Amino acid sequence: MPDKIKILGIPGSLRKESFNRWTLRAAQQLVPADATLDIFELHGIPPFNQDEDTTPPQIVTEFKRRIREADAILLVTPEYNYSIPGVLKNAIDWASRPYGDSAWNEKPVAVMSASIGAYGGVRAQHHLRQCFVFLNMFPLQQPEVLIPNAEGKFDQQGNLTDENTKRYIRRQLQALTDWTRRLRGVHVPFEQEKVA
Ligand code: FNR
Repeated sequence: MPDKIKILGIPGSLRKESFNRWTLRAAQQLVPADATLDIFELHGIPPFNQDEDTTPPQIVTEFKRRIREADAILLVTPEYNYSIPGVLKNAIDWASRPYGDSAWNEKPVAVMSASIGAYGGVRAQHHLRQCFVFLNMFPLQQPEVLIPNAEGKFDQQGNLTDENTKRYIRRQLQALTDWTRRLRGVHVPFEQEKVA
């Protein structure tokens, strides 16, 4: 068995009963055997101030260390006002600075979003993808994980109960793991090649 791919999952919501954090916790149960999934919470990261970008608070230094240690990143975020929550954008900005010392550079990344609305957070996902261009991250394209009407897909304890959603999460985590290995020059066959 090759070394496990270390994925760092970041929930984009601070809310205690966040569907997105519950999604990330569900993902920890669905991660493939050749990967691990740890979580970094964004509580306590102060508003970004460029005056401090060369002397960041300790929590930002720790955040950047955890990102650098990871082989791949998984962002699991709500959509706020058709975009990404300020807390997530704020954290992305901190870890991208100072210029030339971004922790995000060349990291493979996948996105999941859960929403109480009918569109599953798709607009937030596309705004995030716009950030990945300048951050020089390598986003996984498919499969997408969009969880609409999230309030009907978890039980009272926050366990994901929807089997179809679990299937997509499992597939995306495998695809992120494979994508990360491919970026390192390992040959992992694509679905198309497996069929041929
Ligand atoms: C929302 N919500 C929301 N949902 C959506 O699908 N599109 C949107 O643009 C918004 N906008 C929005 C703005 C703000 C400020 C809040 C607080 C909420 C609803 C959102 O999907 C819902 O609150 C989720 O439960 C948030 O995710 P967590 O905290 O459960 O992970």
